Amino acid sequence: MAEALDAEPMRAAARRLLEGMPEGPTILDVGCGAGGMSVLFAEELASVGAKIVLVDATEHLLAEARQVVRAAAGDRAAVETIHADVADEGLPAKLPPADLVWASRVVHHLPDQQTAIGTLARLARPGGLVAIAEGGLDFNCLPWDLGIGRPGLEERLLAARGEWFAEMRAGIPGSVSLPYGWNIALQRAGLDDVDSFGVLIHHPAPGPELLREFVLERVTWLNEVAGDRLDAEDHETVAALVDPADPAFLGARRDLFLLGAKTVHCGRRS
Ligand SMILES: C[S@@+](CC[C@H](N)C(=O)[O-])C[C@H]1O[C@@H](n2cnc3c(N)ncnc32)[C@H](O)[C@@H]1O
Repeated sequence: MAEALDAEPMRAAARRLLEGMPEGPTILDVGCGAGGMSVLFAEELASVGAKIVLVDATEHLLAEARQVVRAAAGDRAAVETIHADVADEGLPAKLPPADLVWASRVVHHLPDQQTAIGTLARLARPGGLVAIAEGGLDFNCLPWDLGIGRPGLEERLLAARGEWFAEMRAGIPGSVSLPYGWNIALQRAGLDDVDSFGVLIHHPAPGPELLREFVLERVTWLNEVAGDRLDAEDHETVAALVDPADPAFLGARRDLFLLGAKTVHCGRRS
């Protein structure tokens, strides 16, 4: 759902990343998930051809990604999948040198993010581009006053999620802190011409039906990860918001929206 809602602005990002690529580029999508960005790369390159290599540690996501990217690629692009762990520093020996290494929202899952960015940098051929999507701005979806419970629920859900994330990172075995920004991390990995750009994701209310489905999933997930960090009243409010039989059901509202941003950090291998 998120990929479908992101597709239009992310296509512009895909085009920007592909500018100036050689004919028939090799693209590695590391931590590809369900393959949404590579579908866009494949569609953009369908007429000229490309080699797209999908890498992920989760087999069922990789299988899903292979299917959708192959369908988008047509006859001109070769699509390969590699089941691998990005934390494996030997990864560059297992993959073809890439014109573009794309890694979206995967580095923050790894114990040593700086080492992981170093590995991503070594996946690029000399002159190749490394682009990671990390950070940005959280999605906001809900009106501040929902007419049920205390106003400001989404802010409290996001604050609780922030604490959960910090605990999740601290709990990763061998977790190493990254006490500086992503641009510095790319520079420390030896990349040149480090720069970043933002991608605005905005679906004004009332948006498509998919938006309401997405918001329901998101609020349910945020409530789960919030756990004890959220008080009982807020948990009760969420229970009503996601219950189709409740008058407060979010799925019946016409004032939900989606507003957020992704940041893409890029650097070039010398
Ligand atoms: C939050 S999802 C992002 C998916 C996609 N890139 C996107 O931006 O929508 C994180 C992905 O990274 C993968 N992943 C997490 N840890 C990994 C690791 N150590 N090696 C390879 N993939 C990993 C997960 O299986 C998942 O597909």
